[in-house]
Amino acid sequence: SALSSSPFAEHIGKHPGEPNVMEPALIKDPFGGYGALREQGPVVRGRFMDDSPVWFVTRFEEVRQVLRDQRFVNNPASPLLGSQAEEMPMLRLLEQMGLPEHLRVYLLGSILNSDAPDHTRLRRLVSRAFTARKITDLRPRVEQIADELLARLPEHAEDGIVDLIQHFAYPLPITVICELVGIPEADRPQWRAWGADLVSLEPDRLSTSFPAMIDHTHELIRERRGALTDDLLSELIRAQDDDGSRLSDVEMVTMVFALVFAGHETTAHLIGNGTAALLTHPDQLRLLKDDPALLPRAVHELMRWCGPVHMTQLRYASEDIDLAGTPIRKGDAVQLILVSANFDPRHYSDPDRLDLTRHPAGHAENHVGFGHGMHYCLGATLARQEGEVAFGKLLAHYPDVALGVEPEALERAPMPGSWRLNSLLLRLAKR
Ligand code: HEM
Repeated sequence: SALSSSPFAEHIGKHPGEPNVMEPALIKDPFGGYGALREQGPVVRGRFMDDSPVWFVTRFEEVRQVLRDQRFVNNPASPLLGSQAEEMPMLRLLEQMGLPEHLRVYLLGSILNSDAPDHTRLRRLVSRAFTARKITDLRPRVEQIADELLARLPEHAEDGIVDLIQHFAYPLPITVICELVGIPEADRPQWRAWGADLVSLEPDRLSTSFPAMIDHTHELIRERRGALTDDLLSELIRAQDDDGSRLSDVEMVTMVFALVFAGHETTAHLIGNGTAALLTHPDQLRLLKDDPALLPRAVHELMRWCGPVHMTQLRYASEDIDLAGTPIRKGDAVQLILVSANFDPRHYSDPDRLDLTRHPAGHAENHVGFGHGMHYCLGATLARQEGEVAFGKLLAHYPDVALGVEPEALERAPMPGSWRLNSLLLRLAKR
């Protein structure tokens, strides 16, 4: 399998009692696996892919506490971590993946890998171009794209069966984010392929795709500079020109990557996981069909119950910190386990139950599937909107849609920290 051929597989099981994130049991059943660790304690010793030690933070309150605590930093090369930076798991991982030294800045300079004051500056700049208003205005377009893709689904069917991941769950968010950012249509298949290479964790694919992506994006920015439009890329360029020191070219390229990949590699799997969950819970599906106004609350619950992101980026302690009774030393890496937090019985009653009415109407979401604190998902409003449109439109076009395979045959990609279906075969209409 992809897992056993991974360059990181050799570390699995090396340290009894300190589970590695690549452990087959954790990959196959993260709900059970991390759930058991959560009941062991709020802070549990584990291992990152590259075998370096990390602390898993497993419970709802402690996860949110760390994500709010600025003493934990995201940048593994932060000066606050002193001379230990080279030992940081993320940097070791990049080295093991064979990423050339001079290209590292394109990963480490990303908004998700930065801390205040850089993070504050990047977040402010991109938020200016990515307003709630822009997202709301986009809704009719998202609906139109969904309608078009859904109308064409039968063309892709074989014996009445069609793969929703390939023909709807990916194309919808890719089209939306590429239109928003300003990625030309002809380039989109290339971005989809690069995305697959990046998430593959295969050093060979990463080391060819990453430099190609960087060159391509620099070129795209150069071209757009000569002909600004109203897309997000143009707005970032304008913001840069307001004060030349505010967004470097590297930061601009990195921001495009962050938006394009975070914008579809996650949302696609919210659509896939959420659809699978609805189709395997007929009582909940019925509630939603009877009352489409339930959609926003339903999406909150699907994000909690089957959100595609199971853990955050690593955080590093910039000083010695006592965390729920566990002494964390300066430089230690901490991994926030969103999936176990989202099922924490200390926070939810009957957490294993999918309950689309769990989140009271009009209330903010009550889960950590989009993270929390300073790095809370920038695209959460957009992703939720895409989810609402995707589920609502799928059921409107195909009210009799059903799984085209047995639920046990649904296969997930063996990827630590993310929960994604390889395919989702559906039967669109009754036989
Ligand atoms: C951050 C999840 C969709 C852009 C995050 C984080 C999570 C997350 C958990 C925080 C990671 C951490 O703290 O280590 C998701 C999920 C999505 C989704 C589950 C879909 C269902 C999107 C979309 C976009 C986006 C559509 C872009 C348009 C970002 C960015 C960050 C981020 C730029 C970094 C924010 C920062 O560092 O300040 N996302 N995301 N995400 N997300 Fe999303």
